[in-house]
Amino acid sequence: MNTEKRMKEDILKVLLTEEEIRGRVKELGEELRRRFAGRRPMFVGVLNGCFMFMADLVRATDLMGEMEFIGVSSYHNTTSSSGVVQITRDLQRDITGRDIIIVEDILDSGNTLAFLRQYLKTKGAASITIVTLLDKPSRRQKDIQADLSGFEVPDEFVVGYGLDYAQYYRNLPYIGVLKPEVYRA
Ligand code: IMP
Ligand code: MG
Repeated sequence: MNTEKRMKEDILKVLLTEEEIRGRVKELGEELRRRFAGRRPMFVGVLNGCFMFMADLVRATDLMGEMEFIGVSSYHNTTSSSGVVQITRDLQRDITGRDIIIVEDILDSGNTLAFLRQYLKTKGAASITIVTLLDKPSRRQKDIQADLSGFEVPDEFVVGYGLDYAQYYRNLPYIGVLKPEVYRA
């Protein structure tokens, strides 16, 4: 492996800058604070993509919330969904009767969130609120919408701020479009 390689060499263009993301995440946090005032929601982050967004979002809410995570996978190092969602790490706590805020990086085909919404209902959640940083509505296969979404993005494969291609690029501080030759290689 070429250790001199820089992530940014593989980025075609920056779609959302750090400043744009910061500003919007702050707004989403303030909106959640209003909606959940006086309640103690449980944030459920969808691993691994949520980690950066979740960290910034929960700090912007100033709510008495619990932090939980669930691991799911539906991608196998390709750029489109397989449609089959697997739990790779289950919830560690009982969610019966809880107000759940799902924190997801991107809503694409909708397979992941349609599955998760059903799963959390089955586990006894009192309410489910879906917050996604990015929304790609043009690619939807399932009847599902976010309650709150940061940005609508075009039908391009994006990486950074938690989002990966083949597990890389998650630590880019902005969201960019990957050069197509990177995933064609
Ligand atoms: P869905 O099940 O097709 O809605 O996809 C949800 C998951 O696919 C997200 O949690 C992401 O991990 C991944 N995903 C979808 N689109 C992209 C993208 O453009 N870049 C990186 N990951 C993506
Ligand atoms: Mg992913």
